[in-house]
Amino acid sequence: MNPELEFSPDRMRQIGYRVVDRVVEHLATLSSQRVGTKGDPAALLTALAEPVPEQGMEFEAVLDQVERQVLANTMHVNHPRFFAYVPGPGNFVGAMADALISGYNVFAGTWISGSGPAALELTVLEWLREICGLPTSAGGVFVSGGTLANLTALAVARQVKVTSPLENATAYFSDQAHSSLEKALRVIGLPERNQRKLPSDASFRISVQELARRIEQDRAAGEHPFCVIASAGTTNTGAIDPLPELSALCRAHDVWLHVDGAYGAAAVITERGRELLVGVQLADSLSLDPHKWLFQPYEIGCVLVRNRDHLRDTFRILPEYLKDTQQHTAEFNFTDYGLQLTRNFRALKLWMSIKVFGLAAFRAAIERGFVLAGFTEACLRGMPGWEIVTPAQMGIVCFRYAALDDAAHLNLVQMLLEDGFALITSTILRGRTVLRTCTINPRTTEADIQSTLERLDRLAGGSACPTQT
Ligand SMILES: Cc1ncc(COP(=O)(O)O)c(C=O)c1O
Repeated sequence: MNPELEFSPDRMRQIGYRVVDRVVEHLATLSSQRVGTKGDPAALLTALAEPVPEQGMEFEAVLDQVERQVLANTMHVNHPRFFAYVPGPGNFVGAMADALISGYNVFAGTWISGSGPAALELTVLEWLREICGLPTSAGGVFVSGGTLANLTALAVARQVKVTSPLENATAYFSDQAHSSLEKALRVIGLPERNQRKLPSDASFRISVQELARRIEQDRAAGEHPFCVIASAGTTNTGAIDPLPELSALCRAHDVWLHVDGAYGAAAVITERGRELLVGVQLADSLSLDPHKWLFQPYEIGCVLVRNRDHLRDTFRILPEYLKDTQQHTAEFNFTDYGLQLTRNFRALKLWMSIKVFGLAAFRAAIERGFVLAGFTEACLRGMPGWEIVTPAQMGIVCFRYAALDDAAHLNLVQMLLEDGFALITSTILRGRTVLRTCTINPRTTEADIQSTLERLDRLAGGSACPTQT
């Protein structure tokens, strides 16, 4: 029995080294491993079901079980041939920062408990603000990911713009907006009938004309348009909504502009990203996920708000047991700027990895994602039978094998899952099932892409093998 829940310093070191050894071994051999494994639900649940253990056991035995039964049944989202969804390339410095954060168990909710962390978080937020081109009035908060960033932003939008009853408030977004936005609208209490999901145009972008028409129509009918949600890199195709035009429209109608850049906004640090993301700095609020295209381990998302006071107006409540956190006005309490009171110190991993690698390395890593998507598209164009549905855009390519129907494309994904060499998943565009690659892992090689596409072609029954280098 170990009622202090504690080990000697030597044993802690031993345990720590065992964990680091496993992580390093995993990362160093990732490319030669399967892309991951999806476990059978019944088998996994049976294997893991047990009564709560009354007595403890050796750490090593538990670690072994974790590796065999749990980690072995995951998709390695940082694998160089994981092209599904939005990969999570991560980075080792970020992982070590997470270990530090947990080891110290840093409380990053109030200045009194975590002044150093709060100062550092403000510094990193300031970096992101500057990178995105928002004015100095802007501020933000780190949250678990894009979903919470979007929820936080929409809660602020409601607080600032909705003075009339919520029943009349209307929000606008395209059919390509991420599902987390609809979830957020539901959570802030916006009735579904007030959610205007507009059909996207031929390039999967929101149509400004149609949006203007709907806003005017709603206004005339006595509704209160309060928020337009734009995407800066949709999950499906990487499409970027026309941000400058949307901003002008929103200003003209006194409507909040939220930009969901959870996936794409980080690309603004590259030259081509900056050109594509023109107008991102005009957002009233902006989501940006460092755990996507800024290569951080989960969970770190960020929301920036043009006027940081709006965040505080939305979230600050001061109960009696937190009064001594608020004695000094210069002290910054992140709990006043978001939903969480107890919150961990996510900012550290982004700060440490930018300090260690330098922003130039991040810029090159993002640029590599653009290059690899272009390479993927070029390979596919050289493969008979395959057609590009949406060209390389923000690291994403959508494509089909012309001779196969929707069900056969879904079947291809299943075959890839079983095969284990690489993973590509599907989505639906204009009612048709398509395959989709997202190539933002900077450790992916051209050979990884070629060999994956060759395999896919064989599975599809095609005769093409990309020969391009
Ligand atoms: C555009 C976009 N917004 C929001 C999200 C949700 O982010 P998270 O999964 O971090 O909650 C995603 C996730 O892929 C996304 O691609």
